[in-house]
Amino acid sequence: MQDIPLRKIDHVRFFVGNARQSAFFYRNAFGFDVIAYAGLETKVKHEAGYVLRQGEITFVLTSPLSKDHPESQRLLTHGDGVMDIALDVPDVRGAFEEAVRRGATPVSAPEAREDEHGVFECATILAYGDTTHTFVNRDRYRGAFAPGYHPVGHDRYHPSTAKPVGLAAIDHIVGNVEEGKMNEWVEFYRKVLGFNQLVSFDDKDISTEYSALMSKVVQNGTGRVKFPINEPAKAKRRSQIDEYLQFYGGPGVQHIALITGDIVKTVRAMRANDVSFLRVPKAYYDSLQERVGTIKEDIDELADLGILVDKDDEGYMLQIFTKPVADRPTLFFEVIQRRGSKSFGKGNFKALFEAIEREQEIRGTL
Ligand code: FE2
Repeated sequence: MQDIPLRKIDHVRFFVGNARQSAFFYRNAFGFDVIAYAGLETKVKHEAGYVLRQGEITFVLTSPLSKDHPESQRLLTHGDGVMDIALDVPDVRGAFEEAVRRGATPVSAPEAREDEHGVFECATILAYGDTTHTFVNRDRYRGAFAPGYHPVGHDRYHPSTAKPVGLAAIDHIVGNVEEGKMNEWVEFYRKVLGFNQLVSFDDKDISTEYSALMSKVVQNGTGRVKFPINEPAKAKRRSQIDEYLQFYGGPGVQHIALITGDIVKTVRAMRANDVSFLRVPKAYYDSLQERVGTIKEDIDELADLGILVDKDDEGYMLQIFTKPVADRPTLFFEVIQRRGSKSFGKGNFKALFEAIEREQEIRGTL
């Protein structure tokens, strides 16, 4: 199927209970700048929104200001979570109409929002669960983010005091879907957006003694947008994907992988900011050199920080996962540095999932 031309992920929108406090978290723990704000002070009556930026990554945090907000039910169903993955496209109307023609469910029709900074175009389709994709085009827009948003001034935050941790771009965004639905969503991305299937992992790759999952990765024609899709697989005890589906109340975004050019520096800074990461046993590092060969990083330093390494034919990659960032065991983040490898860390799955299971055990959800 022909690719629907899309340039990159424009932003990720989180729907949260308290955007003001979430902004404080992502700013002080993850090192994002708060660059724009929408709310009562900017004549937006129904919601508050904070736009955060680090490198090429843009997060938008949105909270309803009353129960009458059309999306307010999301908070009860999901807790805080990702509502929308917005895609930057050269032609919003073309992308929307073609996607709907190929079977996508429309959420909101193309519109051109105008203010004194120009024209901002957007249109939205439905993806897995109630997660959406908004096609956006800001080629004719020069404002801080979108109409309604004002640049953040020193009265609300002090951007000069933000300490970036070196997060540069989004590598991939993973969705969890129900058992038996993975292929359906892979087909959605192939058929509707013209993505290609990159790799697949089955329960033999991704299983521990207790739990299992299956995963397939789809990406757009340029390879800039990568969406792995997971589903739970039958096992002795409950899969981490089942745990997610129960607590999120359905399918949704499981994790967002953020690229850094220096993972040691980034993870050191995030740890200093009190971000909690998953830990693998020390034994993982005893066999690391043997498994991945010589690498530039100091293995003792990686062990100290809990950073994992995997290699393939093209090189190696380093990765680490945060614990869930809210109360429900749902959304978490990955920090990733690529040194040639385009993989997703298959060699780390077992150690990693055992680490997740230890957390599930404590939560009583295994
Ligand atoms: Fe990942």
